Amino acid sequence: MQFVMDCLNVNEQGNLQLGGCDLKKIAEEYGTPAYVLDESTIRKNCRAYVDSIKNYYDGNGIAIYASKALSCKYMYKLIAEEGMGADVVSGGEIYTALTAGFPADKLYFHGNNKSIEELEFALRNGVGRIVADNELELTRIDKIAGELGIRANVIIRITPGVDAHTHEFIRTGQIDSKFGATLENGEADEITALAVSLKNIDVKGYHCHIGSQIFELAPFEHAAEIMMNFIGDMKDKYNIEIGELDLGGGFGIKYTESDTPIDYGEYMRAVSVVVKRVAEKRGVKLPFIIVEPGRSIVAEAGLTLYTVGTIKDIPGIRKYVSIDGGMGDNPRYILYQSEYTAISVENPLAAQEDVITLAGKCCESGDLIGENMKVSEFKTGEIVAVLSTGAYNYSMASNYNRIPRPPVIMVNDGKAKLAVRRETYEDLVRCDL
Ligand code: LLP
Repeated sequence: MQFVMDCLNVNEQGNLQLGGCDLKKIAEEYGTPAYVLDESTIRKNCRAYVDSIKNYYDGNGIAIYASKALSCKYMYKLIAEEGMGADVVSGGEIYTALTAGFPADKLYFHGNNKSIEELEFALRNGVGRIVADNELELTRIDKIAGELGIRANVIIRITPGVDAHTHEFIRTGQIDSKFGATLENGEADEITALAVSLKNIDVKGYHCHIGSQIFELAPFEHAAEIMMNFIGDMKDKYNIEIGELDLGGGFGIKYTESDTPIDYGEYMRAVSVVVKRVAEKRGVKLPFIIVEPGRSIVAEAGLTLYTVGTIKDIPGIRKYVSIDGGMGDNPRYILYQSEYTAISVENPLAAQEDVITLAGKCCESGDLIGENMKVSEFKTGEIVAVLSTGAYNYSMASNYNRIPRPPVIMVNDGKAKLAVRRETYEDLVRCDL
């Protein structure tokens, strides 16, 4: 049996197993809901990116983990061990990374509206690159760097006009974005002019990110081509040599059988061909390449365990199966109507002949994990696993309805370790005065 998560299997007891751990036992020991992630799959995914840069681009680059996908101290330690950098998007992510001992010079600070306090915190702590989103931010970075008596290493975020979610890659499609300096209307050129004029800023590179959960190579190749030509244009115009090109993340993963992700090696191979071709044509030096995978590092390594509670069958309408979690630990259905696969932990091979709506426990009708999901017949008290929840679940979790957030458990070689403990009721009132 092949599950949407490759790393899952069924053990001798007939139970679902992850990282050599029986998930029924994990549920008994840690309770539900609980996020469980297979550490060796995360490491394998990291290596696929690190190796792809070695194999197809002579190692002249770095893979940085977009930590918004799953941010906790354990992840930053693991990522550092794998030799990767990290993309951080807030003072909180920087703080978490630094507390985990992550090397500051391998942090890339993103965001469209970083506060002055966050910029100061980043610069004081030696964050490697600030990805400047706009002119206001550049001037703030310049001022703070001046006050601190340092030079800030900056990458400028460009909106290249590639809409990854249409087949035409409509170039005007992305002008409507809150991120970055738009290429088409001259903003990208203007922000470059400003950056080179500022005394305390070193323009190290350009950045773009064209979207998320992308299954095709062509938009990535297209973006790389546009960015390389832009580097050429800026060299011609301002006589600047841009050494780094950050091509963002966005590589798709498998949530259901219909998802068809691309091979990461294939991505780097295709993009490096484009980068080398345009570099030669435009007479610019080969840039150091940065890629920023988030979802594809952790999503398919993780699942969420829940216990089934109330079952409400409305004949001719639908059957609601309610679990002990929901939008608080996985807001992706209510936000994006994202699809998931759910299976029974004790009967993972049972025929999936029931069609249900998997509902959460929040006081909100839209609190669902999925509608029209094909599953085996779930019974009250049964443990079910919702697959591919390793990314953008824990990191997007909330305490809506004052429900404590679940723990994050790492499994590896038959052993389980807590990366984040379950929240308690005391945690919920910790900031209440
Ligand atoms: N780099 C930048 C600048 C980004 O904005 C993002 C994601 C990434 C890298 C990583 O993209 P990934 O490889 O994970 O696709 N909450 C949404 C996803 C939002 C992605 C935001 N930016 C979700 O749950 O689907």
